[in-house]
Amino acid sequence: MDTQWDVVVIGAGASGMMCAATAGYRGKNVLLLDHANRPGKKILMSGGGRCNFTNLNATPEDYRSHDPHFCISALKRYTPYDFLELVERHGIDHVEKAPGQLFCSDSAKPIVEMLTTECEWAGVALRCSVSVDAVVRDGEGFCLETTEGQLRTKKLVIATGGYSIPTLGATGFGFELARQFGLNVWDTRPALVPFTLTSLWKERFAALAGLATPVDVQCGDAIVRGDVLLTHRGISGPAVLDISGDWVPGQALKINWWPDGVLYDDLIEWRDTSPRKSVVTMLSERLPKRLAQALVQWFCEKDTILAECSNAYLKQLSSAVQECELKPAGTEGWRTAEVTLGGIDTRLISSKDMSVKTIPNLYFIGEVLDVTGRLGGFNFQWAWASGVACGQAI
Ligand code: FDA
Repeated sequence: MDTQWDVVVIGAGASGMMCAATAGYRGKNVLLLDHANRPGKKILMSGGGRCNFTNLNATPEDYRSHDPHFCISALKRYTPYDFLELVERHGIDHVEKAPGQLFCSDSAKPIVEMLTTECEWAGVALRCSVSVDAVVRDGEGFCLETTEGQLRTKKLVIATGGYSIPTLGATGFGFELARQFGLNVWDTRPALVPFTLTSLWKERFAALAGLATPVDVQCGDAIVRGDVLLTHRGISGPAVLDISGDWVPGQALKINWWPDGVLYDDLIEWRDTSPRKSVVTMLSERLPKRLAQALVQWFCEKDTILAECSNAYLKQLSSAVQECELKPAGTEGWRTAEVTLGGIDTRLISSKDMSVKTIPNLYFIGEVLDVTGRLGGFNFQWAWASGVACGQAI
């Protein structure tokens, strides 16, 4: 391995590959390192194997950060349409699964192939299965001790991502290096992650494991509409993953199992029009039958015909169904979380080029920074945009 580089990028994931290719096209002598045996492993398993590679409706409001303005500049300069243009130039088939959410039609593999091809065309040297043991200042640049020997670089980019899914190569390397250079790192916790439950709710949901249904789920002031998936351990599904970024341990979630309309009004109307029908029968018109049966069992114990239901009884049932409160025991943690909430304090980073304001020639990009997108392609868009912002300036 050559020992002197213009740019070394540590982490051949989404942001690292994007940054390396962008810098390489500008004539920089770039080395892209990863300790995993191949690049872009997380991309391959993202979006259920089909990579939700961007969201056409991404705005800075879709990101959580202690410094909400930080992401604006990079997101504005490299938009979802810029990435889509790249995807289309490489002839990758894609679909819009939900409004704005673009996925590969078949598999995420072409996205990794596209990024490695771009790196190759840009003259980037990609080296996998290389670990970095130490990073020290070397004049205005850096000296790296790696498992392949010592190397020097004028500029160093850290693109090592967050803690989620350690089996895919995730480490706290970026956070530790930031601390080594005296930067503040906000507390981190898993986000876009399923919740675990204990006792009663765990038993209730385990009996319905595999069932998915649209709900409104609320946590504090945040409300997300989407599918919830009941599991043997607790709750998952897009709405739940999305709201997990707003959750703090000990907080309760409120689930509205009847998200369209006011259930009490519907029940009163049905009691007039179909008095001989049972509550479960009527609820099953819009809910999966197993869920309708379970809701009545949880909140009323037994099913009855509507003619026998008092207003007070229907009111109580409606409130229980539309404001069902449960307290998660915790989350499934880094093992299944899609992203890391928190990270490197962006007040110390230039929003123009991702450089550390106090340490010349050191850069951080992607998820290692305190910028966390919602569910739906926002996190990759941040990885592309921050990678490009850095690659264009470095
Ligand atoms: P990323 O994690 O991509 O890359 C970091 C790289 O650094 C890795 O290759 C790793 O091996 C390497 N590395 C780590 N430590 C190192 C060390 N010490 N030395 C050398 N190399 C090191 N987002 C989205 O927008 N749409 C989606 O569909 C999904 N789906 C999804 C599914 C799952 C299961 C997960 C876990 C995550 C998602 N995401 C997602 C989130 C998305 O994958 C994530 O935000 C980006 O990959 C972050 O890009 P980065 O480049 O910052 O890190």
